[in-house]
Amino acid sequence: MQSSASVVAEPANPELDAVRLEALDCQRCDLWQGRTQVVMGEGNPHAGILLMGEAPGANEDATGRPFVGRAGQLLDSALEEAGIGRNDVYITNVVRCRPTAVKGGSVTNRAPRAGEIAACEPWRWLEISLVNPQVVVCVGGPAAKALIDKKLKITEQRGRFFDKEDGRAYIATLHPAYVLRLYSADRDAYRTARANLVSDLRQAQERAATKPR
Ligand code: URA
Repeated sequence: MQSSASVVAEPANPELDAVRLEALDCQRCDLWQGRTQVVMGEGNPHAGILLMGEAPGANEDATGRPFVGRAGQLLDSALEEAGIGRNDVYITNVVRCRPTAVKGGSVTNRAPRAGEIAACEPWRWLEISLVNPQVVVCVGGPAAKALIDKKLKITEQRGRFFDKEDGRAYIATLHPAYVLRLYSADRDAYRTARANLVSDLRQAQERAATKPR
């Protein structure tokens, strides 16, 4: 058994904890009206890699944790294949409350609107600056457009590093929900997309290991 003296605890990040508490009451856009709770990021509060997804869905809204539904399971398996522990990275979203639409009488997830993405910007930059990662992985188009370039085309420009003025390297990758949708439509395209996701995560890992903070 490991002695407690040899366990190295992750240093805390009290400023990030304070931001999380403050965000729980956020009403910066109308999404607060339909949410169960605000879904802030989780993971290593001093991670070298920060993953920025799109928005919480039903599972995330219910649990208060990012990427815990089917897309999250695919992301976890891709992280594992890339040799990255989920607890070693910090995972968050461009929007922290679930965007919903009513279709055929039931409530479904929808993509976040530009105004909602803009309203969430202060929380986004606080999380990035307080975690202080060397590499930010933009998971899917909305995150890549918000953080790298509003004209970015994810299928053409994923897997490349963009060195930004904040000293961090940004890289876009495919959203696992998009990869999942390919599974029933085109199995070869699914395999290629999943392999690309893993390869982008691996690149992020290599870059974070060599890039000084
Ligand atoms: N779950 C999240 O937390 N974010 C996404 O982008 C998708 C699913």
